[in-house]
Amino acid sequence: MPRNGHPAKTQGLYDRIADVQNLAMKLNGYRESVANYLRSLNLDLGPNSLILDAGCGTGIVTMAFQDAGFHPRHLAALDLSFKSLEVAREQFTKREEYAHATSAVQSNVLSMPFADDTFDLVLMCGVLEYTPLDDGLAEAARVLKKGKPLVFLPVKPSVVGSVLELLYNFKTHKKAAVRTAAAKYFNIVGNYEFPITEPIAWSKTIFLLEKK
Ligand SMILES: C[S@@+](CC[C@H](N)C(=O)[O-])C[C@H]1O[C@@H](n2cnc3c(N)ncnc32)[C@H](O)[C@@H]1O
Repeated sequence: MPRNGHPAKTQGLYDRIADVQNLAMKLNGYRESVANYLRSLNLDLGPNSLILDAGCGTGIVTMAFQDAGFHPRHLAALDLSFKSLEVAREQFTKREEYAHATSAVQSNVLSMPFADDTFDLVLMCGVLEYTPLDDGLAEAARVLKKGKPLVFLPVKPSVVGSVLELLYNFKTHKKAAVRTAAAKYFNIVGNYEFPITEPIAWSKTIFLLEKK
């Protein structure tokens, strides 16, 4: 894979499927599963905190974070796909309580338009399957403040993961590879599995990482 992934191809794919993708994610309970997980963490996020959802797609994880009851100063939702961001923005503006503190940013997760040590928490769900793992984690670490968490949800190598690789044209990373790459920039706080009764458990796992 080239060091910058295949951004034009990926952007084109998600520009085409944004509406369908958004509907599919609404139907499978993904948002609620992620919100429940985030609620279960003892996150110390004050009213001045800055949050980033990197590779936000149509904003499901951004909204899950808000559903979990957090009220940061600002949440930036970043993605390559203009159409996905348009769908995300439409949904964000309907959520009056949060709209003023949420923005949609078009950029590549490998070169984000933020200064070093900016964020108090970064969410990355299902995006580094499109990029070299090490480069994506390095960039997440760059924009995070020291000691702050990256909530990282990669797609699991599994039967479902293999089907998704074909459908979405990405490559899953082995858990061991995630651990090796993550350990360069993060302390690995935990690797959790969603309850098996929740559809997300078939495709995603969660690493809770803390910037060194
Ligand atoms: C499988 S979707 C996941 C979306 C969202 N995080 C979620 O969990 O619902 C993958 C998203 O990553 C975005 N993406 C892929 N490569 C990217 C890159 N290099 N920079 C920014 N976004 C990227 C795609 O445009 C797409 O919206």
